[in-house]
Amino acid sequence: MKLLLVGATGLVGSHVMRLALAEDRVTQVIAPVRRALPAHPRLLAPIVDFEALPEEAPWWAADAVICALGTTLRTAGSREAFYRVDHDYPIAIARLARRHGVPAFILNSAIGADSGSSFFYNRVKGDTERDLATLGFHSLTYVRPGLIGGDRQEFRVGERLATVVLHLIGPALPRRWRINPAGRIAAAMLEAALAESPGIHVVASAELV
Ligand SMILES: NC(=O)c1ccc[n+]([C@@H]2O[C@H](COP(=O)([O-])OP(=O)(O)OC[C@H]3O[C@@H](n4cnc5c(N)ncnc54)[C@H](OP(=O)(O)O)[C@@H]3O)[C@@H](O)[C@H]2O)c1
Repeated sequence: MKLLLVGATGLVGSHVMRLALAEDRVTQVIAPVRRALPAHPRLLAPIVDFEALPEEAPWWAADAVICALGTTLRTAGSREAFYRVDHDYPIAIARLARRHGVPAFILNSAIGADSGSSFFYNRVKGDTERDLATLGFHSLTYVRPGLIGGDRQEFRVGERLATVVLHLIGPALPRRWRINPAGRIAAAMLEAALAESPGIHVVASAELV
């Protein structure tokens, strides 16, 4: 299968890329990125401007899209800018993929995703899930982690603190509140892409520990 991966330079996305390049059933990984990735014989990593996606690029015609794209409110700088990256970009990518016949889409969403939520972050993830469901994918999967665990270069103070606390009290917590390792999330996303099961599926945080 040809896998289109967005967010390949991120924590979860880089795990997806490693797993996909080691998986015999994946013949090619297409990873549109903002900055160059190391070369690999089965990797095509075009540098793109996410504000002006190349609508007619032949590589849109993949077998599945995995989307691990996202930013933080702090990096984005405003709610509008955050919404643009976490909602508008995935939807624009999904629309183009559908136009090129892609049957399956897997979104790295988040626990609590709900377009009716009073929390902005949960609302954005909920809006993205809601709008993806209107695009007619044969197979659509929302993977909803809680706190993502892994080596992150960027220092995020809130996440660091939460990680320390969850490591300490994790075993006493219900499974859905435990840390979800990035590699585990990536494996669930790749599994969903390879399975291409018809319909809409949710992979909850409790399944990602
Ligand atoms: N952090 C958590 O604990 C947590 C919990 C639940 C859900 N999530 C969600 O899980 C997803 C993946 O998280 P992660 O921690 O793997 O993310 P990450 O490490 O921050 O990586 C984000 C990816 O999105 C790309 N990206 C960010 N802003 C962009 C922009 N303006 N234009 C184009 N590409 C952009 C980054 O590319 P560059 O390398 O070019 O910046 C990178 O590839 C996100 O949607 C996040 O909201 C996170």
